[in-house]
Amino acid sequence: MSILASGTIRVGSLTVNRLGFGAMRLTGEGVWGPPADVDEAKRVLRRSRELGITFVDTADAYGPEVNETLIAQTLHPYGEVVIATKGGLTRSGPGVWAPVGRPEYLRQCVAMSLRRLKVDRIDLWQLHRIDPRVPRDEQFQVIAEMQKAGLIRHVGLSEVKVDELEAAQKFFPVASVQNLYNLVNRGSEAVLERCEQQGIAFIPWFPLASGALARPGSLLTAIAARLSATPSQVALAWVLRRSKVMLPIPGTSRVAHLEENAKGASLTLSDDDFRALDEQGRAEWARPRPA
Ligand SMILES: NC(=O)c1ccc[n+]([C@@H]2O[C@H](COP(=O)([O-])OP(=O)(O)OC[C@H]3O[C@@H](n4cnc5c(N)ncnc54)[C@H](OP(=O)(O)O)[C@@H]3O)[C@@H](O)[C@H]2O)c1
Repeated sequence: MSILASGTIRVGSLTVNRLGFGAMRLTGEGVWGPPADVDEAKRVLRRSRELGITFVDTADAYGPEVNETLIAQTLHPYGEVVIATKGGLTRSGPGVWAPVGRPEYLRQCVAMSLRRLKVDRIDLWQLHRIDPRVPRDEQFQVIAEMQKAGLIRHVGLSEVKVDELEAAQKFFPVASVQNLYNLVNRGSEAVLERCEQQGIAFIPWFPLASGALARPGSLLTAIAARLSATPSQVALAWVLRRSKVMLPIPGTSRVAHLEENAKGASLTLSDDDFRALDEQGRAEWARPRPA
């Protein structure tokens, strides 16, 4: 049972193991302030490295600052672990997220992430959101300049549509796209397909539907029991099987859940199970919801 079973993926020039870790949960309530149990949060990060996870996703906005600082305190020097961070989304309170894409602000985001992560260059810097109030080309232009200046090795985007991906590619090679995606949320299929065509890493956030797919009683409970697995492992095995460019980053604040999720990388779904789950997930996604 090893996370190496799901293979590796290229993120630009970097090669990482295909099951990553999303660190956002290692913060306080509402992704605000420090985690309730700082020691457990550090254990989660250390255990992720022991398990062979070589891709850790964070953002300056997680905490804010808290998450990057915790990662640097616990994992620096990073060795073969790639720390992917993001900028361009501000915080003014728990659960409050507001995009700011003015070029001088994006420059500050990168400068501060470099300092907090204790690196000279960020391996993967992702634009957390395109700010709709700033011309997107201005945002892409300053990112291109920072990459040219050597502050950023590879650039990723987050929550983009195909036309936005294409617009960004006029300024820099896009190494990754991080969009909301899981078995029951299929709004990013078109972007995923474009990433597949172009060999761009697709990083699904909420791969466990924010925990809903991992809970006992979720729609994965029956199949998980039949496969002697857990619902979270089935949810991760499904996204990993869905595409070779998939790089899931399940999040957790607990070592026990991290270890459980890591085993999802070595769970192989049969063709029949994969297809049945796919249909079930699409049907769930198409189900009308109250406005
Ligand atoms: N780009 C973006 O805009 C964006 C937005 C949101 C998130 N993200 C990134 O995506 C990552 C993943 O998203 P996420 O962490 O919000 O959601 P997720 O991975 O879908 O689910 C995490 C939730 O599931 C629970 N969980 C995890 N493993 C479990 C298990 N084995 N059994 C039961 N419950 C389990 C966690 O609770 P416990 O802590 O109790 O385990 C947590 O509440 C984040 O960490 C972040 O890096 C990016």
